[in-house]
Amino acid sequence: MVLSPADKTNVKAIWGKVGDNAAAYSAEALERTFSSFPTTKTYFPHFDLSHGSGDIQGHGKKIGEALTLAVDHLDDLPGCLSKLSDLHAHKLKVDPVNFKFLCHCLLVTMACHLCKDFTPEVHASMDKFLASVATVLTAKYR
Ligand code: HEM
Repeated sequence: MVLSPADKTNVKAIWGKVGDNAAAYSAEALERTFSSFPTTKTYFPHFDLSHGSGDIQGHGKKIGEALTLAVDHLDDLPGCLSKLSDLHAHKLKVDPVNFKFLCHCLLVTMACHLCKDFTPEVHASMDKFLASVATVLTAKYR
């Protein structure tokens, strides 16, 4: 997946609009993922997955921070996400299909909140960006 210069501009601009809501939107997307695609819950047996739980908020904050880091390093996603890639593939062994679910829910959540700013062009660029992040995080899964 190659992000064009226009994609990079779109991703940086829309993530700028997400701003301080990165943690909240990521937590909302995570909770939506658990509701819409319940098999994803199997990776979190140690979490309280009830609506708005501290575990979901806390983990949303971590996902939001990771995405912010990725947006700041669009030209080196493998480098900046290397440790997370090891974690998800080697330690957690998250089946790659689950990334499609979370990425889809991140897009839906952004669309809900950003409305008109979430144009079709931004949608396409964010989809490519999240697919690129997912590719890195699943690259070592065997
Ligand atoms: C955009 C995709 C994703 C990003 C950016 C992401 C990011 C992160 C981050 C930042 C952490 C915390 C790492 C740490 O504490 O050092 C983490 C942990 C974790 N992730 Fe992901 N993740 C993604 C997708 C997924 C998916 C799809 C699943 C499974 C459905 C998953 C399951 C987990 C689990 C089980 C943990 C450990 C939670 C804990 O015990 O605290 N992740 N992830």
